[in-house]
Amino acid sequence: MSAGLRQKLDPDRLPRHVAIIMDGNGRWAQRRGLSRIRGHQEGAESVRTVVRLCREVGVAYLTLYAFSEENWQRPPLEVQALMQLLGRYLQQEIAEMVENQIAFRAIGDLSRLPAKIQRQLAATTAATGGGQALTLTLALSYGARSEIVLAARQLAAKVRAGLLTPEDIDRELFAQHLYTKDLPDPDLLIRTSGEHRISNFLLWQLAYTELYFTDTLWPDFREEEFLAALLDFQRRDRRFGLTQEQIEAQL
Ligand code: FPP
Repeated sequence: MSAGLRQKLDPDRLPRHVAIIMDGNGRWAQRRGLSRIRGHQEGAESVRTVVRLCREVGVAYLTLYAFSEENWQRPPLEVQALMQLLGRYLQQEIAEMVENQIAFRAIGDLSRLPAKIQRQLAATTAATGGGQALTLTLALSYGARSEIVLAARQLAAKVRAGLLTPEDIDRELFAQHLYTKDLPDPDLLIRTSGEHRISNFLLWQLAYTELYFTDTLWPDFREEEFLAALLDFQRRDRRFGLTQEQIEAQL
């Protein structure tokens, strides 16, 4: 089945950047009478699948919402388990990332993460820095409103220091002060588990992004589901506020 879906993909019309809100681990586990942590473990397998597929089909940037600012309010044992899973993931995947030319990075308020995880993130980022095939970004302790406030503060400080005038601040300069300054805006946002919300993820960057919602829970979101999302994207008509005639004139 998924081999057929793969053949249908048009390599010239792939999204350059896919962002994903991975939702539904808890419900996946609950439906099976398992602990929420088991759901996150299965979710980590979906992460592996999707990273591998992006690399194989040629998606250049993948950004995953792995832990939000709000997630710190979850029960301490669940937070601890998520941190352990993340640590294990980095440890297990670093060699494959280097081999497969995957550049790893993390965005968010990383200073709130356990010191050991911070060290692992820094080491993984440094070891994979040369990766040219795929940039994998994990959003950790991330909140888009905080990211925007931080950018505003940095710009205000530069104005106060006389390095900039308020008129120098335009969209490009603003974007250069976001965590995502080195990433193109996402072309496709996927959210699993039937929720139709953005949940404080990449609010600035999603301005023109195509949105794809599926009822599939994240631990069940594997090759076929991801290929279906890419194919759906390829059927979309992206006009960025222009008319169809203007778009055709650009071709
Ligand atoms: C949402 O499901 C998922 C999360 C809050 C964490 C995402 C983490 C993973 C996919 C696994 C670890 C990640 C890596 C990178 C190894 P939920 O718990 O909100 O599900 P629910 O809405 O059904 O309760």
